[in-house]
Amino acid sequence: MADIVTVEGLVKRFGDLTAVDHVEFSIAEGEIFGLLGPNGAGKTTAISIMSGLLDATEGDVVVDGNSVSKKPGAVKRVLGVVPQEIALYETLSARENLTFWGKMYGLGGKDLSEAVDRALELAGLADRAKERIEKYSGGMKRRINIAAGILHTPRVLLMDEPTVGIDPQSRNHILEQVKKLNAEGMTVLYTSHYMEEVEFLCDRVAIIDHGKVIATGTIDELRAMIGDADVVAVELDEPPAPETVELVAAIPGVSQADAVESTLQVLSADGGAVLAPVVAALGRAGAHVRGVEVTEPNLESVFLHLTGKSLRD
Ligand SMILES: Nc1ncnc2c1ncn2[C@@H]1O[C@H](COP(=O)(O)OP(=O)(O)OP(=O)(O)O)[C@@H](O)[C@H]1O
Ligand SMILES: [Mg+2]
Repeated sequence: MADIVTVEGLVKRFGDLTAVDHVEFSIAEGEIFGLLGPNGAGKTTAISIMSGLLDATEGDVVVDGNSVSKKPGAVKRVLGVVPQEIALYETLSARENLTFWGKMYGLGGKDLSEAVDRALELAGLADRAKERIEKYSGGMKRRINIAAGILHTPRVLLMDEPTVGIDPQSRNHILEQVKKLNAEGMTVLYTSHYMEEVEFLCDRVAIIDHGKVIATGTIDELRAMIGDADVVAVELDEPPAPETVELVAAIPGVSQADAVESTLQVLSADGGAVLAPVVAALGRAGAHVRGVEVTEPNLESVFLHLTGKSLRD
């Protein structure tokens, strides 16, 4: 499929800080594209530029052939946005909130009421539509926040960390919502710092850190950046000293060792073979091993491999 979104050399500076640093990626029509990065990576800033809320310092975003800097109106008609901060009126009901947002998108009359019904249905909250938002749980608010972004059935939906701080049930509901919208033809940009969500949802991913895209590809392509390595996760009872990490990194067969809080992640072409020497070395260094797990690389290990730090806060 052709690209529906192209981000070209995007830069955003706030004074001395470069929040978005020459970011480039493109999204094919029909894809769920993930933008994965830790707190402060520049995800919200990039989305704000894509949706015309912020001006870029350099570069541009082209959506369905229109530049967001030159034709913001045309871009806005194609885009739906689910902001990171919930944008709902607490004292209005869910239906009233959605009606308000529908009018903002230029809907009226029967189109508007049908769009609101559809969105409430998708959120799984049709039966509670008359209740004030202030009575909703955090997860329910998030679901209505998403409903507000899709009233005008946008071709491209930009979602900024839509599952932060909610219960597992609402989270699963949202992930299914995203899959369903995509199956109906909506292209989705899904921003998150949860690698499990991105692995579950996304066809392709850009990993972003300190404003820069450090890797782009399918999940398998990104995993392949670590090569055939196994990931040995050694859980310790406290964060290991830097000397201990170095000691493990020097063991023959170990290609990389990084500490993430009290877990030591060891990369090796043969996880089984390095297990015993790693545990022995840790014992000699006085570290207490609580558990060991050998797994395939995931996006978390890719991020650690590329940056030496964890995606988690
Ligand atoms: N209006 C602003 N003025 C100054 N600095 C800003 C502004 N908006 C964002 N920043 C800075 O730009 C950087 C990127 O912020 P941004 O909100 O885009 O990150 P993020 O990836 O969305 O993070 P999070 O996962 O915490 O939402 C941060 O260092 C932030 O402090
Ligand atoms: Mg953000």
